[in-house]
Amino acid sequence: MSNLQFDPEVSRQIESVYTTPDVIEQRRVVRTALALRPGDRVLDVGVGPGLLAAEMAAEVGPQGRVCGIDISDSMLSIAGNRAQVPGGPAVELELADAGHIPHGAESFDVVVATQVFEYVEDVAGALDEIRRVLRPAGRVVLLDTDWGSIVWRSNDDVRMGRVLTAFEEHLEDPHLPRSLGDSLEKAGFALTHLQVVPMLNVRFDPRTYSAGLIDIVAGFVPGRAEVTEQQAQAWANDLRGLGAGYFFSLNRYLFVASAL
Ligand SMILES: C[S@@+](CC[C@H](N)C(=O)[O-])C[C@H]1O[C@@H](n2cnc3c(N)ncnc32)[C@H](O)[C@@H]1O
Repeated sequence: MSNLQFDPEVSRQIESVYTTPDVIEQRRVVRTALALRPGDRVLDVGVGPGLLAAEMAAEVGPQGRVCGIDISDSMLSIAGNRAQVPGGPAVELELADAGHIPHGAESFDVVVATQVFEYVEDVAGALDEIRRVLRPAGRVVLLDTDWGSIVWRSNDDVRMGRVLTAFEEHLEDPHLPRSLGDSLEKAGFALTHLQVVPMLNVRFDPRTYSAGLIDIVAGFVPGRAEVTEQQAQAWANDLRGLGAGYFFSLNRYLFVASAL
């Protein structure tokens, strides 16, 4: 399991960040790739705050099915608040790990996991599980960040490097996208679409993805890679003070594949 605990505080922070226009746009890109049709049966692995699951429920309509699993009680509790979707099926939520999906073989037309596999210890095992619960020719859509793609302006690049090194400890694999296509093919999937989904913030604004990320990073890094609480706060204050001179960019990678 990754080092980031999706406890009530972190879950609330993530829900807040995932309601910014940056992440709303990311979900629009993911839903285009998902290409859901009325009646589709979908599983959201690592459903988190349930924002994508609710949007998918509206798309598959009352004849469809949307299930979500997550290892975090706090996230499931937040997702439960948006499980009743007008014009859609109720989102079915369960506490479960990606490596042990509590559904039978060939239960779903589509499986999606956004920003989840970079936290998963046994990627091959989780992909085997997804392959098992997908119907033949069913689709999987995965989105993950490569944290090596981050470009973040700072007045102290040495401190920035140390903070980002410490933050990489929150993941099982901060560079997962580099190997994910290979892992999908080894698990019995054929890749059908790959896409870079960039994040770009060019001024400091609290209603952006990276402004929320500052809070999450500042809460996680103290005591890791020799970063102190004071250094973490100085790092965060430096970025918040950049105003119109602020710059942040990061790449997510979207993989669409079919079960062979
Ligand atoms: C960054 S959040 C993303 C949430 C959601 N997929 C989204 O994009 O809005 C990562 C989520 O993955 C969940 N998670 C991490 N490891 C998991 C695992 N092994 N099995 C299931 N869920 C997991 C966490 O609890 C958290 O809710």
